[in-house]
Amino acid sequence: MTDHRDKALEYAHLHQGEFLGSLQDFVRIPSVSTDPDHQADMLRAANWLVDQFRLLGLDKVQVFPTNGHPIVYAESVKAGNAPTILIYGHYDVQPVDPVELWKTGPFNPVMNGENLYGRGASDMKGQVIASMKAIESILKTDQLPVNIKFLVEGEEEIGSPNLRSWIDAHQDLLACDLALNPDAGMIAVDVPTIIYALRGLAYFEIRVYGPDHDLHSGVFGGVVHNPAQVLCDLISGMHDSRGRITLPGFYDSVRELDAEERSELARLPVDDEYYRKQTGAPALWGEDGYSAVERIGSRPTLDVNGLLSGFTTKGSKTVIPAWAMAKISMRLVPDQDPKQVHKQLLRYMEEHAPKTVRWEVDQMSGGPASLTQRTSKGTQALTKAMQAVWGTDPVYKREGGSIPVVSDVQNSLHADSVLTGFGLPDDNIHSPNEKLHTPTWFKGIDALIHFFYNLQ
Ligand code: BES
Ligand code: MN
Repeated sequence: MTDHRDKALEYAHLHQGEFLGSLQDFVRIPSVSTDPDHQADMLRAANWLVDQFRLLGLDKVQVFPTNGHPIVYAESVKAGNAPTILIYGHYDVQPVDPVELWKTGPFNPVMNGENLYGRGASDMKGQVIASMKAIESILKTDQLPVNIKFLVEGEEEIGSPNLRSWIDAHQDLLACDLALNPDAGMIAVDVPTIIYALRGLAYFEIRVYGPDHDLHSGVFGGVVHNPAQVLCDLISGMHDSRGRITLPGFYDSVRELDAEERSELARLPVDDEYYRKQTGAPALWGEDGYSAVERIGSRPTLDVNGLLSGFTTKGSKTVIPAWAMAKISMRLVPDQDPKQVHKQLLRYMEEHAPKTVRWEVDQMSGGPASLTQRTSKGTQALTKAMQAVWGTDPVYKREGGSIPVVSDVQNSLHADSVLTGFGLPDDNIHSPNEKLHTPTWFKGIDALIHFFYNLQ
């Protein structure tokens, strides 16, 4: 006898073509949250979601304005005493530059072999559609076995600056037993993955000013301190020879991995060579004393995200630039606090910036790291779901990326998140030619159907 679960799975299999079509429609909307030129597209993406949720027959479908991009909400809470799952998603995407490196248009989603190419296909429009289509498959064949609440924001890729206050103001609406967050990913096609830790983020722009205008480097060279050189000196001083960060007090609150977790991480099918291949770099680099997977999951880092100064276009120009700018970010681990890190950076600048320049540091948004339970009901339900679909146990891994909502949900709603996703390490998220491996994505939809039934 086929039970409801099988009917829902059958529906999902029969409608894979339409699911893919929906994802393509969603990817076509260029919802780049950081770019003011895409303001109207952000609204279009939010309204597109509203239409989808209404078609699904969900309740309280609503767009909530914020000081930034709006939040979309929808729910179905008809399953009585069954648990309530908050399903998180974000409809914003990262910028597409350098756009000339894309082989097909970033917002013209096309299939090539088994992959769908387009910005957001993997991070995370694909994951939003996967959750939605799992719910659709159940609703078309059965009643939902659990209560669900969708929260889809438009500012994740800029650090979710308006989300925490909105969650705080809507605690009753959002009350839940656990959150499903499919904004992480898998280790490999045949390795379903549950993520239990994420790093936090602290992001800064540093500007160094020297002369009050660009100078002839012959007429004035040797009498003023070049701001580009000063900035490079400052940046190079931020790491020591062992790859450790030198900001005063930076490691004071860093929680060390215990021996048990280190040995568990060492068993994952991701050795240093795996990371070397993923990156294409000639050799790996990082803090002494830790493997690549340990560094990514449990060690803080400091990176230059961008550098700008002087003459950088074709040809040559003899000039001493008036200023230099760097975008610098730190990935944080438990129990580092982004506000403390800001103070540590200011202290570093006060101690090391020479009197020959003036400088400014702006903090952009970010958030703390998060750790989730590995033995929760949600994790168990997802583990069983993945076993059913992939025929193998999932692995449990720490990830290096950041998803600010996870700590917001923990601290404001006192709910834990189950973190997963059906993207792959070679999906080029945030890079040109982002793609989604559709066979894995379809498996993900099946896994989510199982997940909701397992929670019943
Ligand atoms: N989905 C990613 C984070 C991620 C990637 C988690 C891979 C696990 C595996 C997310 O959309 C993202 O990129 N977040 C930003 C957040 C930042 C702007 C606060 C990030 O990590 O850079
Ligand atoms: Mn992202």
